[in-house]
This record gives sequence, structure tokens and C-alpha cells, in this order.
Amino acid sequence: VTAADAILRPGPTLLGQWSMDRALAVLPFVFFLLRKHQPVLKLGNTYLVTRHDDVRTVFAEDASFGVPYREKLDIILGGEPFILGMPDGDEYRAALASMRSVVRRADLPMLAAEVSARAEAIVASAPGRVDLVDLVRTIAFDFVAQYLGVASPSGAELYRWGTRLFEYQFVGSDAPLKAEVAEIAPLMRSQIRQEIDRCRAAPAGRDDVISRCIAAQAAGQPGFSDAQITAIIAGILIGGPPQPPMVVPQAMEQLLRRPAALAAAQAAARSDDDAALAAHLLEAMRFDPLAPWMPRVALAARTIAGCDIPAGAKVLASIASAMRDERRVPEPKRFDAGRSPDQYLHFGHGVHQCFGLQINLATLHLMVKPLLKRRNLRRAPGRAGRLQKQRAFASTLFVEFD
Ligand code: HEM
Repeated sequence: VTAADAILRPGPTLLGQWSMDRALAVLPFVFFLLRKHQPVLKLGNTYLVTRHDDVRTVFAEDASFGVPYREKLDIILGGEPFILGMPDGDEYRAALASMRSVVRRADLPMLAAEVSARAEAIVASAPGRVDLVDLVRTIAFDFVAQYLGVASPSGAELYRWGTRLFEYQFVGSDAPLKAEVAEIAPLMRSQIRQEIDRCRAAPAGRDDVISRCIAAQAAGQPGFSDAQITAIIAGILIGGPPQPPMVVPQAMEQLLRRPAALAAAQAAARSDDDAALAAHLLEAMRFDPLAPWMPRVALAARTIAGCDIPAGAKVLASIASAMRDERRVPEPKRFDAGRSPDQYLHFGHGVHQCFGLQINLATLHLMVKPLLKRRNLRRAPGRAGRLQKQRAFASTLFVEFD
């Protein structure tokens, strides 16, 4: 049993997975044609937006293009609101401010050091061979859980819970997945409640997100009832750690396909040029980003690129297409680690831009830095050495080193 088998749902048949992977592989060409000839594609009541500026407009206009996440979030969080599901407004701003008061910029150096230490320990104890998905998943879940102050469940069970709830929230809603969510979601909430009680009973010596929430509650600050704290912690666990084990191995697969870019990333790692290393990772992510698009629902009729989108329509803002749009991304097929940040949309844009943005920029590259420093980093032989996916999730990518 591989780590992936314990955590991810079994994939479709080999043929099913192959077709999915093929469909994703031709998307860049489809997007190219659409950007040129049909920048907003209407498919029934769904509108796919493909040009960079239009994608930004969709994200920026929260009052016209709202997030469609609330319904599923209600099932996961038992009806307690969380920023991801809220329209912009006073309630959203207050909830965001509460979260920012306990997830602080000043923590970034500590989090970076924590991620570096975890990554180095795993690589140092690996016998010249590592599964990048397993490596990144372990680091991402463990450092976020520790930062939040969530001790249990730990290990594979936490990874499975987070990944399954993420899958339900953002990827699918088939019956077996719904059944698992119906079991996991209340368990996760009650586990977090227990952590809150434990922390309240013995707060001494703790400085994690839960302990800060409880201090805020004791000080009478609004936004920190037990139910609200539970939603903050669960929301971050579901929205955060499942993503690095998708995008970082996908980015490494792209680097492994480009020896010059890989060598430059290795040089940056060896010379401790973290800014250059991070730039290489973000650029590699552009060739296989988190998802082709982010969903929105049209709350009012709007015209985008000459296309009338009626109220009630489903809108797909394609970040993958936007990051290849030659109108804003010069020579999009070229690997260029010197691009300006405004060419990227990895973390969304506007009101719902990733809450973990600064944490990601401070840590993602450090998850693979120790590996990039090792000599003779190479793909493992055979299929193991190529990125494998189970449905939307990266499942394995083994590399070897001396
Ligand atoms: C590779 C890592 C990550 C990627 C690519 C990523 C990407 C994104 C994107 C694209 C969105 C916007 C979704 C939309 O507009 O529909 C988002 C939102 C969000 N992300 Fe991340 N994320 C990552 C990691 C994290 C981490 C580590 C955390 C928490 C520590 C986090 C917490 C959130 C939250 C709470 C939101 C909702 C923000 C809001 O609605 O205002 N993410 N993320």
C-alpha cells in the first residue's frame, strides 16, 4: 500500500485516468484557440472566460460574479459561515480581519524555518529516493496542523480528511464522496471542538492559532465563538494543505522536463537564493496550475468580451488560460523565471484571493529546496519517475539522488 492508496480515493480505470490526463494535456491548445476566436465560450448555461484581463475582471467584480461555495461549505462546516463562501461586505471584512489577527505576517519567518527543518529531516532520512507527493503532503499538513494547534488526528488520517473534504468542496460530488464527507465533516468539527476545550483548560505555553483565538474570545473580541473558531480552523485545514501536494509535484514534473530550468532552480537552492528559487517554482506551476478554472455564479447580467452573460449563469474563470495569454504573458510557451508577479493567477485575485498567499510565497519552495540541493537529482526509473495522478490529485512522483 503506497501513501497515495491510504489517502486518495482509488482512481478511475487506467483508461479513464488516461483519458482525463489527455483531456487536460490538450486544454492549453483549446484555450489558445478560444482566446483568439471565442474568448468567452458559452456551453449551455456555463460561460468559460479565457483571456487574462477578463479573468481578472471576473475575480475583481465580486458583486457581479459571486463565489458558489456556500452550499457545500455549509455541509462541511455545519452551517457556520466561512470567508470562502461569503460575498464581499461587512460580514466578510470582519471575518477576514478576525482571521488576520490570529494568522499573522510576523509568523512567516517561523513558518519558513519550520518547513525547511521538516523538509531537510525527511530528505536526510530517505535512502536516495523520495516520493515528492508524499514529501510535500507530509510537510504541508504537518506544519499547518502544528501552526493551527491541531494535534489530532495526525498523519494519514488528517491527510485523508483534509484531502477528501477539499475534493468535495472543489472537485466532485458523487455519491460515495458525499457519504464519506457526511462521516468525516462532523468528526473533524468535533475533533477541533475538543482541541478548543483542551486549549482553554491548559493554555499555558501555547502560541498557536487556536490559543490566539481563545485569548481573543476571553478578551471579548467578536468573531471568536467556539463555532466560529471551529469554522476558521476547519476552513484553513481544508482550503490550505491539500493544495501544495498537488501543485508542487506538478511544478517539479515541469522542471524535470526542462533540464536548464531545473539546473537554474538547483543553483538557486544551493546558493540560498530563495527569491530565485521561488520564482522558478511559480513559473513551473504556470505550465500545470492547480486547476483549469475557478467557478463563479453571475449575480447580475454582465457583458464580458462582447458576450452577454445572464444573471444565474455559471462562470468559469480560467486561470490556466489567463497565465498563457500572450496579451499579458509575453512568450507564454517560454520558461521564464523573471516574469513579473502580475502575470500569475495561481492564488486567484480580488476579494477571495488566497488567504494563505503570503504563507505560500514564504514556504512552497522550501518544501523542495533540500532535494534540489542534493547531487544528481533525477527521475526514478520507469513509471514511478513520472507524475501520476488519481483523478485530479497528484498521486506519486519518485525521484532519486546521490
Ligand atoms: C499551493 C498552495 C495554494 C494554492 C495554489 C491556493 C490557491 C487558492 C486560490 C486560487 C484561491 C481562490 C479561490 C477562488 O477565488 O475561487 C484560494 C483561496 C483561499 N485559500 Fe488558498 N491556496 C493555497 C494554499 C493555501 C494555504 C496554505 C492556506 C491557508 C493557510 C489557504 C487558504 C485559503 C483560504 C482560506 C481561501 C479563501 C479566501 C477567501 O475566500 O477570501 N490556501 N487559494
